[in-house]
Amino acid sequence: MGLFIVSSVLSLVLIWVTCALARSEYWGPAGACLFAALATIPFLFCFFPALALQSLLTFVFLCVCLVGRVKPSAIKWVAIGAMVVSYGILLSASLPKLIEFSKLRSEFPLQSVSDRLAYEAKATEKLAGAASRSEPAVLRSEVAQRLEIAEQRVAGMSDHPWRGNRRSMLASLHNRKSDEFAVAQGFGPTRMMPGFVSTEDVELPEVEPVPMPTELDRPYEPDQGSSDALADIDRPTHQQPPTKDLLSLHESGVFDFVDPNRIGYVRDRDHVAGFQSHQFTKMPELAVEKDQPSASWQVARLELVSLLKHEVPVAYVSKNLPQMDELREAPTRPLEAFERQSLDRLRSDEDVVIDETPDRIRMIGSLRAARNCLECHSVRRGELLGALTYELVPVRPSRKQQSPEAAIN
Ligand code: HEC
Repeated sequence: MGLFIVSSVLSLVLIWVTCALARSEYWGPAGACLFAALATIPFLFCFFPALALQSLLTFVFLCVCLVGRVKPSAIKWVAIGAMVVSYGILLSASLPKLIEFSKLRSEFPLQSVSDRLAYEAKATEKLAGAASRSEPAVLRSEVAQRLEIAEQRVAGMSDHPWRGNRRSMLASLHNRKSDEFAVAQGFGPTRMMPGFVSTEDVELPEVEPVPMPTELDRPYEPDQGSSDALADIDRPTHQQPPTKDLLSLHESGVFDFVDPNRIGYVRDRDHVAGFQSHQFTKMPELAVEKDQPSASWQVARLELVSLLKHEVPVAYVSKNLPQMDELREAPTRPLEAFERQSLDRLRSDEDVVIDETPDRIRMIGSLRAARNCLECHSVRRGELLGALTYELVPVRPSRKQQSPEAAIN
């Protein structure tokens, strides 16, 4: 809006100067014509398209007037006409953008997620007696530090570069900054204005379900020990990966599962735009160089533990990595002893609890409520919203590599 006013004031000044010059004995209409031609250049270089176009049109119209020997008193109307035409052209040039933004608004409307989270109210009522619900959860200092780092990462994403910041773009669409921008584009330097929305950054690619490794097609048998047929291919035993590698595997998994870019714009939990349910988009990997201990391990199973939705904690069972759209209807299994016992340590003391045997690593990791989660979830900051439970096995050749004949048949 500010730019539009600045531009209009400058336009009126332009008209006034043109008329004054045309009336003056020294300059006359030819001088006014020259002035309009010269004025085009600075406006063009300062990215004031409307003013540059107005000056140019004034010049062209005045040339026609000079040739046609129009009376100097008519020049006022010529200058005003140039302004009207140039503003008309630039306003209509912003129409396609306005239409695009209104389409995006209907594609990503503000919607409520309260119903989908109604289960939390019951769960938090049950917890209410234990501690004051308004205080944040008390966490061991390392855990608190990690939570803060995760929050800073999210905050950094939303303040920092405008391009590619889906949350800010959706916000801009819904508070109409985008439309102001589209209109202002013709009237001043807008390239860097927060309000720039690009459709390809708002629309997300469809995410395909990520299947669990096929070696695990068999039913899962908890607590079956290390004689697991899965793991005995790759003897001798593998060196265990360091805890920090397992922790960063979990952290990268969490970031993928609740990626802020897919969460979209949350004004409050009844007004959410562009929310794509939490889901894994890829199998998390131990990011290490070859010939380090972690390089010889891979995730064979990764499930979501639901803590607040059911009477007792359970794990969702699926052939795919966790994605909420599918898990809403999915069967569940009771937790195995290791998972049950580890949950208490996850609440405030640890972010991962690991149980290692030579052939198998089991790990459970926290899904802790950071500040941005509280925009929708009604728990305390630092409390667990869920957990991820993993099973890692030594890397071994895929089935195809093991039996090429089977692959051919
Ligand atoms: C835009 C609102 C919104 C935000 C922000 C949000 N969630 Fe969720 N979350 C949901 C909804 C809605 C569900 C219920 C499943 C569904 O309908 O997709 C859910 C479900 C979950 C579940 C599964 C619960 C269960 O037992 O089934 C976990 C875990 C979870 N969220 C963790 C997080 C974490 C961690 C954050 C912050 C990093 C977060 N959520 C931020 C809306 C949100």
